[in-house]
Amino acid sequence: MIPSQGPLWNRRDIIKASLASTPLLAATPIALGQSPASTSTFEAASQLGRQPTLIADENARPGSNDWQLTRVRLDEIHGHRASDIEGYCSRQSVAAGEKIDIMVSTKERVEFVIEVFRTGYYGGAGARLMTRLGPFPGKPQPVPEPGEKNLRECRWEPSVSLTIPDDWPSGVYLGRLKTLRDKSGFGYWQSYVIFIVKDDRPADILFQCSDNTWQAYNPWPKNNSLYTHPNGNQGPWADVSFDRPYAMYAQIYENPQSIGSGEWLCFEFPFAYWLESMGYDVTYCSNSDMLTPDRGMKCKTMLSVGHDEYWDIRQYESVVAMRDAGVNVMFFSGNSVCWVTPMRPGFDGRENRIIFRGGPYGADYRYAEEREKNFGPYPHRGPVEGYLMGARNISPVNGGGDWVCTKPDHWIFEGTGMKQGESIPGLIGWEFHGDPAEIAGLEVIAEGTALNGGVNPAPWHATIYPGPKGNFVFNAATIFWCQDLSSPPGHMLPWSHWSRPHGPDKRVQQITKNLLDRSIGNR
Ligand SMILES: [Fe+2]
Repeated sequence: MIPSQGPLWNRRDIIKASLASTPLLAATPIALGQSPASTSTFEAASQLGRQPTLIADENARPGSNDWQLTRVRLDEIHGHRASDIEGYCSRQSVAAGEKIDIMVSTKERVEFVIEVFRTGYYGGAGARLMTRLGPFPGKPQPVPEPGEKNLRECRWEPSVSLTIPDDWPSGVYLGRLKTLRDKSGFGYWQSYVIFIVKDDRPADILFQCSDNTWQAYNPWPKNNSLYTHPNGNQGPWADVSFDRPYAMYAQIYENPQSIGSGEWLCFEFPFAYWLESMGYDVTYCSNSDMLTPDRGMKCKTMLSVGHDEYWDIRQYESVVAMRDAGVNVMFFSGNSVCWVTPMRPGFDGRENRIIFRGGPYGADYRYAEEREKNFGPYPHRGPVEGYLMGARNISPVNGGGDWVCTKPDHWIFEGTGMKQGESIPGLIGWEFHGDPAEIAGLEVIAEGTALNGGVNPAPWHATIYPGPKGNFVFNAATIFWCQDLSSPPGHMLPWSHWSRPHGPDKRVQQITKNLLDRSIGNR
């Protein structure tokens, strides 16, 4: 059980629900008119192939009590790399039946194994062991020299080519790399690789992982991120490749749990852990799977979670198309849709492997103009993100603060008991949204002032507005939202701008449940 959490499904509930529900691959009848969201035409057309208990069934399986990293060594104190063993995958996401290559380098010529886990709830364990691969002979693989625009693109030999079995459900998977010994003969070294298993089944909820942002901040090997080009930290000068390991996460806290896993464990996994604990029907995808709207059109609700800063314009167009077709869109995130990030192929033609900061979203609105003036010129300019999210990436866009309820009678607060002006401590941070867009029917449901650097005020706004088909778009206006949903094993709360969230909060869980249940037609 998760402390201070709302109603959870225990194993018996999940099994009971599974037995009572429609068999896999059968059409599930839906009650049209049950909620505004359930009247959309796309939904009625997409019921064939639903597996509404897939995630609940998966979570009834035994979890692993050992999936975290135990022994991790950075090459330098306050460094980024862990070159004793490190690796990366040939694709961000992969479907059952498709192949993904895992490339691994070891500092010494030692054997290693790869244990593949699916992250989820699993009765509180947080992950399930899916397979153990190896042992394989390890060897050092070369660190690429900086290319044009400082690109560091590894061309390592695959250590294993893995075909995803048919019975691996969509989810975010960690491959735990482990040397079978260290130099002393008594220890071992570990790190992760990460990949997403996607599917195309109709599902209630689509969880879009923010992996463009993981890669934008990835400093592997020697502080080589979108933020570290000698010309400046916010310009269009640096290219980054997915063909390299994820170094230790470079901001907010030094947390060895993250090595090789991007920002998943820090800023997104608590949302997935909570969703799966509640038995929601969720499927997962990469930012790169959103270049067309096809995936999202089969789902009732799309989630942007955590730190979702870097979007290809095609992603923006996809989500606008989804919203206009009746999909609910929820930004449980901050600093989202801030920078245009065109995706292009890697050295051997694999698609969507290189990104750069192409320019700001915001059209000719003042924050985009400011970003252009301060850090440009940029080759691209995106549309106004506020017309999609409901609020914008303001300036300053980062800081810390309390999340303050300003519309307690709104249905999203039902069951929370929240009063006008009541606050949730430290939930705003470390980046947020504000300056609501002029959209018919938009409501500001929470607002307040964050403090940048602990002292400089910045107004933020959480919003909700109606879509054209009875659907809605919600913006929580904070990266930290999921920090108050759950606390999975090994999770560490962030601390930034002299402010921090507190961890699982029943009000945040209830607001999230209200939004999700209405969006999928359960209330
Ligand atoms: Fe950011």
